[in-house]
Amino acid sequence: MYTLIDGKKVAAEVRAETARGVAAFEREHGRKIGLAVVLCGEDKASLVYVRNKIKACGETGIMSYSYSLPGDATQDALEELVSSLAADDRIDGILVQLPLPKGLDAERALKLIPAEKDVDGFSDVNIGRLALGSECLAACTPNGVMKLLSAYGISVKGKKAVVVGRSQIVGRPMAMLLLNADATVTVCHSRTADLKAECLQADILIAAVGKEGFITADMVKEGAVVIDVGINRNAEGKLCGDVDFANVCGKCSYITPVPGGVGPMTIAMLMHNTLAAAKARG
Ligand code: GUN
Repeated sequence: MYTLIDGKKVAAEVRAETARGVAAFEREHGRKIGLAVVLCGEDKASLVYVRNKIKACGETGIMSYSYSLPGDATQDALEELVSSLAADDRIDGILVQLPLPKGLDAERALKLIPAEKDVDGFSDVNIGRLALGSECLAACTPNGVMKLLSAYGISVKGKKAVVVGRSQIVGRPMAMLLLNADATVTVCHSRTADLKAECLQADILIAAVGKEGFITADMVKEGAVVIDVGINRNAEGKLCGDVDFANVCGKCSYITPVPGGVGPMTIAMLMHNTLAAAKARG
């Protein structure tokens, strides 16, 4: 029998803990914590994410400052906005929702976010610190995975962890977080020679590919912990992950569902990071 990891429950706990921290910060410092949320264009998924991020701010007592740029905004307009937020004392965290519309260079814009306000953990400085195992703001989704593992008492130390996917937002920071927690980490990707053999080694298997049903039962070791970071839509338009849940779950000790697994953790960890950023700034 497997244990289903309840991301909604853990995310609610993280949000509640963050709300207590936010209230304590306000009492101590006599000011609100502020998060700036920048949306460019009208990507449907991004609109939903941004709306949920602003809602989560309201629930945790963080002031949200919302900025919308048109889909045809210039790089200069985006950079001017980010620079002004970087200099704005009310703002503890800056988030530029990705992906940006075509023609806008995310890397250049993200470079203008000071590391101490980079609550997404996407900047080269925070990625560098993460790679060094130094204190940093770590990307919200992989940081949320680490929180889920610890919430369920799943020890990472000395375990074989296999991360499938090497994206900047999930796969790479995920691998570094696991490594920093003393796992033995393998990162697999589209050029991996024998993906199945690699996955079968995993005590902890993290799927971050973006393809429905990509991880099948024959790729999973008996008793493995399976974490599904995928958010896909199937042919019927239903939300589903990267893992063939129905056939994989029977082999697992723990598994995350989609929806209700890793997904809710991303925004909860954004609130957590925003509080951490405010505390570091004082
Ligand atoms: N797009 C997909 N995930 C994320 C995220 O965690 N942060 C931002 N800013 N954009 C995203």
